[in-house]
Amino acid sequence: MDKIVEMIGVDKGFPGVQALKDARLELYKGEVHALMGENGAGKSTLMKVLSGIYKKDAGEILIRGKPEEPVGPREAQALGIGIIHQELSLMMDLSAAQNIFIGREPRLSFGRIDDAEMNRKAATLFSSMHLDLDPQTVVGDLTIAKQQMIEISKALSFNSEVLIMDEPTAALNDAEIADLFNIINKLKANGVGIVYISHKMDELKRIADRVTVMRDGQYVGTVDAKETPVDQIIAMMVGRKVQHDPLVVPEISDVPVALEVRGLNRGKEIRDVSFKLHRGEVLGFAGLMGAGRTEVARAIFGADPLDAGEVFVGGEKRHITSPHDAVKAGIGYLSEDRKRYGLAITMDVAANTAMPNLENFTSQLGVLNESEIDTATQEMVDKLNIRTPSIHQEVRLLSGGNQQKIVVGKWLLRDCDIFIFDEPTRGIDVGAKAEIYRLIEDLTARGKAVIMISSELPEVMRLSHRILVMCEGRVTGILPGGEGTTQEDIMTLATQRDTNQQNAGYIQ
Ligand SMILES: Nc1ncnc2c1ncn2[C@@H]1O[C@H](COP(=O)(O)OP(=O)(O)OP(=O)(O)O)[C@@H](O)[C@H]1O
Ligand SMILES: [Mg+2]
Repeated sequence: MDKIVEMIGVDKGFPGVQALKDARLELYKGEVHALMGENGAGKSTLMKVLSGIYKKDAGEILIRGKPEEPVGPREAQALGIGIIHQELSLMMDLSAAQNIFIGREPRLSFGRIDDAEMNRKAATLFSSMHLDLDPQTVVGDLTIAKQQMIEISKALSFNSEVLIMDEPTAALNDAEIADLFNIINKLKANGVGIVYISHKMDELKRIADRVTVMRDGQYVGTVDAKETPVDQIIAMMVGRKVQHDPLVVPEISDVPVALEVRGLNRGKEIRDVSFKLHRGEVLGFAGLMGAGRTEVARAIFGADPLDAGEVFVGGEKRHITSPHDAVKAGIGYLSEDRKRYGLAITMDVAANTAMPNLENFTSQLGVLNESEIDTATQEMVDKLNIRTPSIHQEVRLLSGGNQQKIVVGKWLLRDCDIFIFDEPTRGIDVGAKAEIYRLIEDLTARGKAVIMISSELPEVMRLSHRILVMCEGRVTGILPGGEGTTQEDIMTLATQRDTNQQNAGYIQ
């Protein structure tokens, strides 16, 4: 097989962090090469070196056997290297088409941008990806999933020979992932070499040919993706075995209700949603993307207005019309869109941790107790194994997954009675996932109630005492957690498009 990229002995340091030391990667034409490792292992950094965004301190890069040192993304593109970034790099005020062709817009003979041609080209690209999207839509108005698809289209439009995908599916639903995998297979058949970064172990088996594992910026090894057991790959990543304890499902019928929701309605997105959440319970929300799970969460949290519906907290009816009201009622919401709502990325780790918890760290005289903030932050950093040179590092300088851990961590520190976690483990490595599960279990052991929205079914099944399934804005059923429920049971309800059942009725 033709080797298209070879990176040998690559070092890269940042102030206080040795992000890469003796990192290595070898990519053949027409292969999908998974790059795996814990959050902060150096995957994105290695790929930014390859795509000319960072300059390496030492080492060698061979492209088609020739030593190269791409400086800047344009030079990398000229060498045939394209990258889909982990953090979306789109301009929120521009249209989808403008984002794709930025800096290389088709022009009319007198120099003006040919908008019609640009939109046509974008439309062709989208239809090749089965993406139902008007090229003129302003990107900021789109869901993260759609934005992610635009980012992918943009990378594809360069016709690169080497395509780096840094967690491309983090925000995609199953159908979108299937479309992406079809595209990947086509690219492979055309001889494109793909570096694929993901924390989802099932994708590794579905799409990858080989895997290279990194740990602490170092090369650990390269193995065959299909033949190597997942456990072995995880052990290479974390340097130890990760254990999952089985769920113990408590009897919840006689436990007090923490939250009750009756007849929530908003347009077509939320239709007659009613349920009860008990103290000490994890209620999983399952459903396909667009089923209305996030909409229900946002409505309970007062982030979006309702047409109708009642919310009871601890048996008392509450009028929640803003997140502020919700927090006062003891409800915390970890949003799935962390970039927009979750982090102040130019502030440091400690400030981000303290922000939603200021009252806990303020003395009666209104003075912030910084040493307490530092202690709590350090504890969170240790528990979730957040890779940062110090708690005073700016959050934007951390790896994507470590940023996620901070958002999750700061909510776990909060003193809420009811937690709503929307995709809490997105982009988070296996070791820290297990730790987050444990922290959620700690919360429920202390009588807290948790709603857990996740598109990873095994995760919902492992953590939930009961699983509420939604389809097209309606609750289609509530299943018991634990061994008794299968993925098929959930999928049956998640695809139950029964519209003549006007009123799904009250489900306990
Ligand atoms: N610009 C930067 N300045 C300072 N430190 C950085 C910078 N970029 C990355 N780092 C650090 O380098 C290390 C490797 O980060 P990198 O983003 O490559 O990790 P990753 O393997 O992609 O992790 P994730 O799975 O979380 O995306 C981390 O400790 C990170 O904090
Ligand atoms: Mg990364």
